[in-house]
Amino acid sequence: MSERSIFTKSVHAGDDHTSHFGALSVPIYPASTFAFSDADEGAAIHNEEKDGYYYGRLGNPTQRALEAGVAELENGEQALALASGMAAVSAAVFTLVKAGEHIVAPQSMYSTAINFFNHVRERFGIETTFIDATDAENYRAAVQPNTRLFWIETPTNPLVLITDIEAVVRIAREHSIKTIADNTFATPFNQRPLELGVDAVIHSATKYLGGHSDLTAGVLVGSGEVVEAARQGANKYYGGNIAPQVAWLVIRGIKTLALRMERHNANAFAIANMLGDHPRVEAVFYPGLASHQNHEIAKRQMPGGFGGMIGFDLGTVERGKAFANAIKLCTLATSLGGVETILQHSASMTHATIPREDRLKAGISDGLIRLSVGIEDVDDLIDDITQALDVT
Ligand SMILES: Cc1ncc(COP(=O)(O)O)c(C=O)c1O
Repeated sequence: MSERSIFTKSVHAGDDHTSHFGALSVPIYPASTFAFSDADEGAAIHNEEKDGYYYGRLGNPTQRALEAGVAELENGEQALALASGMAAVSAAVFTLVKAGEHIVAPQSMYSTAINFFNHVRERFGIETTFIDATDAENYRAAVQPNTRLFWIETPTNPLVLITDIEAVVRIAREHSIKTIADNTFATPFNQRPLELGVDAVIHSATKYLGGHSDLTAGVLVGSGEVVEAARQGANKYYGGNIAPQVAWLVIRGIKTLALRMERHNANAFAIANMLGDHPRVEAVFYPGLASHQNHEIAKRQMPGGFGGMIGFDLGTVERGKAFANAIKLCTLATSLGGVETILQHSASMTHATIPREDRLKAGISDGLIRLSVGIEDVDDLIDDITQALDVT
């Protein structure tokens, strides 16, 4: 039988009709503890000689159903669901790197991930070299004898920069270095980094996997070696486990992932083209545009589409704020990946407390707008964005 489409997989990933009385919707198991029939069974489950559950922090059938589904969608051997995207970031790093070792990571990516890498340097002696990850060769140039991990985020938050995953994996393998890719912006609908050779993928499931701006969650998915080490280490000791109620919401969100992504992709493509032609817009960042610096790489490694995230520059802080204040249908808010169109003006919101010079160094220009294009009617969105551009 040929491999099933991602549209089918989104609906059925992780299906198990042999358990839970055949319930099509996996039940929520809120139990924090599970009874054993006798001491031998308790010992066997604790020692992982027998499949089962014993304590809420270490998993439950709802969490396991989510993990099975994400593993199938990303084509990973195993997955570990966690309480947030940052719990997935920290679980991945603390699983693969220890004090005195070294990471190479993009200089432009999700700001809290950058802050996390700086934090672990100060607190735990794990050094990170930040590079321009739009050129894979910069990973090679940053390798040290103690480098253990190449961190990849593609497309990046907020500039939608693209890293060539296969090229980074090739360099990593030459040096026996592990690779992790943050696939939050792309989702497995658009891009599957495990198929390109990375050891593991992380997601902020808060975004497209959940898809409805109503939960906070994360996932680590990849080789059994990495995921199992994270389950037995970082998850157990740092306790960033996902709540079963939230795991259930993510499962429900994933059922429409393919449908939503198809629409996010189409809407964003149309809006990016409109913005590219608009005289009041100084620059547009969208990997689907031929003008994007790494458009050819994006075309190759994002077969499903270019995603729902767009960056565009209105030139000044004043014009950025005026645009943010003028939108009516779109919502001014942080976060992304939900069904509704959300935007933020980075200089006056997420990066407001960062000195201008540092902000510009990170590529966050004064008038940068980050747009998370939702699944509304594209003409309604274009009407709203156009009327807001008219008053900037
Ligand atoms: C690319 C990316 N990775 C990781 C995270 C962290 O996820 P969370 O907010 O769920 O902890 C975010 C959050 O915005 C993100 O955009």
